Amino acid sequence: MAGFKRMRISKAVAAKDGQARIRGWIYRKRSSGGKLFVVIRDNSGTIQCVADKSAISAKEWEKADAAYLESAVEVAGTLKADARAPGGAELEVKSISVSNSKEQFPITEYQSPEFLLDVRHLWLRSARMSNIMKARSHLFRYAREFLDKQGFFEITPPLITKSGGETGADMFEVNYFGQKAYLTESSQLYAEAMIYSLEKVYSFAPSWRAEKSRTVKHLAEYWHLEPEMAYYNNAKSMALQERLVSHMAARLAKNDRDILEAVGADAAALEKIRPPFKRISYDKAMEILQQKGSHKVWGDDFGVEEEKLLTEDEEKPIFVHNMPKDLKAFYMPISKKDPRTVECADMLAPKGHGEIIGGSERIGDYDQMVARMKEKGLVLENYKWYLDTLKYGAVPHAGFGLGMERVIKWMLGLDHIRDAIPFPRVINRVEP
Ligand code: 4AD
Ligand code: MG
Repeated sequence: MAGFKRMRISKAVAAKDGQARIRGWIYRKRSSGGKLFVVIRDNSGTIQCVADKSAISAKEWEKADAAYLESAVEVAGTLKADARAPGGAELEVKSISVSNSKEQFPITEYQSPEFLLDVRHLWLRSARMSNIMKARSHLFRYAREFLDKQGFFEITPPLITKSGGETGADMFEVNYFGQKAYLTESSQLYAEAMIYSLEKVYSFAPSWRAEKSRTVKHLAEYWHLEPEMAYYNNAKSMALQERLVSHMAARLAKNDRDILEAVGADAAALEKIRPPFKRISYDKAMEILQQKGSHKVWGDDFGVEEEKLLTEDEEKPIFVHNMPKDLKAFYMPISKKDPRTVECADMLAPKGHGEIIGGSERIGDYDQMVARMKEKGLVLENYKWYLDTLKYGAVPHAGFGLGMERVIKWMLGLDHIRDAIPFPRVINRVEP
């Protein structure tokens, strides 16, 4: 294949002219009247290759004709503009080398969702999953680029721990050389320890939740972005959150139009995601819910139904702040304005996609923290190191946790959170 320039498929399609050598996997194939039409994909796109039986060797023809879908191929040929071909160009094959698959590809057109999850390792090759995974990769980058520009340092917390950050009830136990330890449910406490040297930090790592929730927004393993900022209060943290989420939406809408279109997401809706987001207190949220016919009363937590009622008419995410203290974790300070509540805020995505961020101010005083921990019935011994951080130069601070798969599900308009991650871990599935 000397003399043919190696190109990515998108470049070859755009060139529409000249000699090219491409490689990839067989996406579609048919033959008709001594011609073979092979659509080949690489990570940049697809191109139709047309092989004339008389133009290539008998051996090449035989191999190409027998090739299964998803076989790996390398093709050299001449690019031709052709309005009928997808993308407006095709490749006239001069030579084709096929490394045929061992077996027929098991995924055919109509398959049950369960089967596709069983063969997730292969289903990831589909156009839909490839597009989602590209968007996922880009969103990870957009989040990082925003925080890096704001002067944050990325930190790497331990993921095996003895101290729970949330309820602790939902942690997976690990046998740590004979000691009881857990897979982390949040890296927050470690991020807090690091603000005393780096001031503005974030960890971007998995969190695990052994929740028995079988919903479209719960994973047992998810990617958790957790910024933590010295000297921030709840209001300043909310302002940062809406800018972060708006940045991610804007970059996706601008740079990834083709992906959004392919997965059926609403780019125009994403363009509207700009600060400020609506802020409503928990009290106000309760009023709205009751007006809408909900039977929830003050003190109740929101479930899927309440999140939906609160956001069904919204175009942008909203904050619900100052939640009842009994619903929230030990580290949140009691509000001076309403001591039944704590200085916290959850960000709910529009159209019922649910909570995407949970955040709060943190108690920045040793004695207050100890009192609150006792009130919550925590074993102080388990938090010895964390309490230590408050003994030396404690300052007010705040932080939040953003669930990446929740954001991906919302921004791409996915029905189920499991499609926002390559190999989902849900209650009944830990393979592949
Ligand atoms: O609200 P959560 O439990 O808050 C915390 O863990 C805090 N320690 C975070 C912090 O302040 N650093 O979780 C934060 C976010 C949720 O808003 C949600 O987006 C996501 O994590 N999340 C999940 N995502 C997928 N599957 C699950 N089971 C999730 N549980 C929480
Ligand atoms: Mg929460």
